[in-house]
Amino acid sequence: MKKISRRLFLGSASIVGTGMALKPTSIWAGNRSLDSKPALLGGEKTITKSFPRWPIVDTTEEKALLDALRGSRWGRRVKDNAADNFENNYAKLLGANHCLTVNSGTSALFTIMGALNIGPGDEVILPVYTFIATYNAVVLHNALPIIVDIDPESFQIDPKKMEAAITKETKALMPVHIGGSPADLDSILEIGNRHNLPVIEDACQAHLAEWKGKKVGTFGIGGAFSFQESKNLNCGQGGAVTTNNRQFMDACVGFHHQGSILQDNPYAQGGIRGGNLRMTEFQASILNAQMTRLEQQAKTRSENATYLSRILNEIPGIAPAKLYPGTTNSAYHLYMFRYDSNYFAGMSRARFMEALSAEGAPCSGGYGQMEKTPRITSLPNNRHYIKIYGEKTMKDWLERIQCPQNAKVSGEIAVWFSQTVLLGSKTDMEQIAEAIRKIQKYAQEIKEAKI
Ligand SMILES: Cc1ncc(COP(=O)(O)O)c(C=O)c1O
Repeated sequence: MKKISRRLFLGSASIVGTGMALKPTSIWAGNRSLDSKPALLGGEKTITKSFPRWPIVDTTEEKALLDALRGSRWGRRVKDNAADNFENNYAKLLGANHCLTVNSGTSALFTIMGALNIGPGDEVILPVYTFIATYNAVVLHNALPIIVDIDPESFQIDPKKMEAAITKETKALMPVHIGGSPADLDSILEIGNRHNLPVIEDACQAHLAEWKGKKVGTFGIGGAFSFQESKNLNCGQGGAVTTNNRQFMDACVGFHHQGSILQDNPYAQGGIRGGNLRMTEFQASILNAQMTRLEQQAKTRSENATYLSRILNEIPGIAPAKLYPGTTNSAYHLYMFRYDSNYFAGMSRARFMEALSAEGAPCSGGYGQMEKTPRITSLPNNRHYIKIYGEKTMKDWLERIQCPQNAKVSGEIAVWFSQTVLLGSKTDMEQIAEAIRKIQKYAQEIKEAKI
């Protein structure tokens, strides 16, 4: 495969960024199966091989796990253990001064907010288009999650809406690098600086993603990573906090370990809290083994995704999610693109996804409307929230959540491939584009078929 230089990558990112209007000159002329019927209508599948299984493991993981099993300490109590090794290596890889392992990505977010002493009465701003854990971590502190809408081209939090949501109760801005692509960090950090608010990066999907050549998770006061089993770096369940601030790291260490923080730490001044959020040696050993493949896998995903974006951009009605110009690398935990039914005879997204999956390219519509789920709509009825904030504030809170862009993106537009699709070959990427072209060619028939 042709080596993808950073310049080429940025070039393709800016093409992607222009949305659906601009279609570059064709670099790929594959159309082998366009004449055969779509698989959904009984024709042959375009893609017959399956994509790589996840996780990828070999004897490296087996040995690491056995070493942990035979060691005298399974929990984390002494120095020079597997968790220490991982923290040192992950911090180094990210260019962060400090890394702390915890038992999940949710715990990483919870720890960061705990170290900032976020609690009842405080507001934290986050995007609507995210996994529910981002929201839950705020609610676990009995703070108010302020949910804002997204930029429909990138699916990332809209910084203007983020700024508009700031009140005197706001204590932190919490962008999410959704899909593994960086949110608009320059704008968000600038807003944070201007309002004197810490930025917490939810980088749970964004291992090794870069903004202007620097890894995400190193820009705000703290970055949160997840190592849950679907993630690009995986130990079943696990997480990490990264930061460049020594005193803040000490506060995180304290919060994740029963509040064992020195009282002269400035982050301890608001009152010390803590619990047990520590990682086990089993989790850390698997992470150390998985780390041996992380960079190569990230490179493969990045190259395949860049190529896929270029060829999908040639298809009218298909537009890869925009990458902001500061993006020098996406982690591509998800490959997200926009589907416009107007170019597919008005076929619903659900039918399009059914047809694409039948061609051998498994896909999904991604997140639904988080703001309409009972977890959120029932919060105003929670007796603790009523006690802390009052019924009126809680009623107003629900009304403040207005996310029309999310309704469109999650309801009609977004289509996702999982990261394992990007671990395939260049030919696989070409076949995905070919499958979509075939669906487009037969769109009317597929739409009308009684299946
Ligand atoms: C954006 C985001 N935030 C937070 C989390 C929580 O991570 P975990 O599942 O490890 O608790 C996830 C994981 O799925 C996530 O995707």
